Amino acid sequence: MHPKIASLLAKFPRVELIPWETPIQYLPKVSEMLGVEVYIKRDDLTGLGIGGNKVRKLEYLLGDALAKGADVVITMGAVHSNHAFVTALAAKKLGLDAVLVLRGKEVLRGNYLLDKLMGVETRIYEAENSFELMKYAEEVAEELREQGKRPYIIPVGGASPIGTLGYVRAVGEIATQSAVLGLEFDTIVDAVGSGGTIAGLALGLALAGMKTRPVGMAVGLFGEKMVQRIEDLLRETSELLGVKVKVEVPEIYDYSFGAYGKIVREVSEIIRLVGTKEGILLDPVYTGKAFYGLIDRAKKGDLGEKILFVHTGGISGLFHYGEDMLKLLGKV
Ligand SMILES: Cc1ncc(COP(=O)(O)O)c(C=O)c1O
Repeated sequence: MHPKIASLLAKFPRVELIPWETPIQYLPKVSEMLGVEVYIKRDDLTGLGIGGNKVRKLEYLLGDALAKGADVVITMGAVHSNHAFVTALAAKKLGLDAVLVLRGKEVLRGNYLLDKLMGVETRIYEAENSFELMKYAEEVAEELREQGKRPYIIPVGGASPIGTLGYVRAVGEIATQSAVLGLEFDTIVDAVGSGGTIAGLALGLALAGMKTRPVGMAVGLFGEKMVQRIEDLLRETSELLGVKVKVEVPEIYDYSFGAYGKIVREVSEIIRLVGTKEGILLDPVYTGKAFYGLIDRAKKGDLGEKILFVHTGGISGLFHYGEDMLKLLGKV
């Protein structure tokens, strides 16, 4: 752990959900194909439930919830939300209740199936996007307060300044791992959904004084609104940490293929390629699209010679959308 990052984070309550440092692995076949060195930070192996990036955010978010005396956690997302399922599972492990405020078609697959299997309370609402679910979450919180409970709301994707600390910490880990490996990455690439992961990476890199550029691949929301969200997270998280650093909003490219959650053939092909060449499974909503973006941008020479891809998890997406992907890929 980078000493400056460790000391800045020391004052924040954290529950340890990740029992190890996730590995950084070289991808030989993809590197050969692209003519650059591609490495992967295995945050799909964060070790709680289906793993993924949300577990890092939850270490601080649930640390805060416990410190504030909460007994029930409410969070939001699409029916297939990795974040929602992992949040509920982590809350239960810590002895808290959880209510998930979800949107979308109820299909018993992927994470929604896991929600049900683990006996998590879910409520489905109509909303254009997950950010609009906040008002319903507040209604649920009010209802629980009236029953004498102490609810704690975690925003979509855990994208709050406290959640963002999880990826500041991840950079502390990457800093020491890359020093041991003797590597200086030109870029760190990840999937951008709610923006918390890329904001934490950007802030962490600045605090660690690393020259590595964070590059985000947007899988849904893009443009002005996303830039504003990331700018706010950077500012508010710096204030929370009590540091004065000016961090630019990272480069973000649009690889949503038209819409969040839209399943497309090109991405399904990349998922098959990375699976069969490297033995690593990506998902069709987040990491598959982000890796498609990595390949596309690396071919254009935008990402430098040494690239670190953060695998943010999301394995359940394959079990939610696998049939759609198979149709797009055609008969084997
Ligand atoms: C697998 C996976 N990757 C990436 C992301 C995006 O991370 P963020 O919301 O921090 O931008 C998510 C968010 O839901 C996710 O589930």
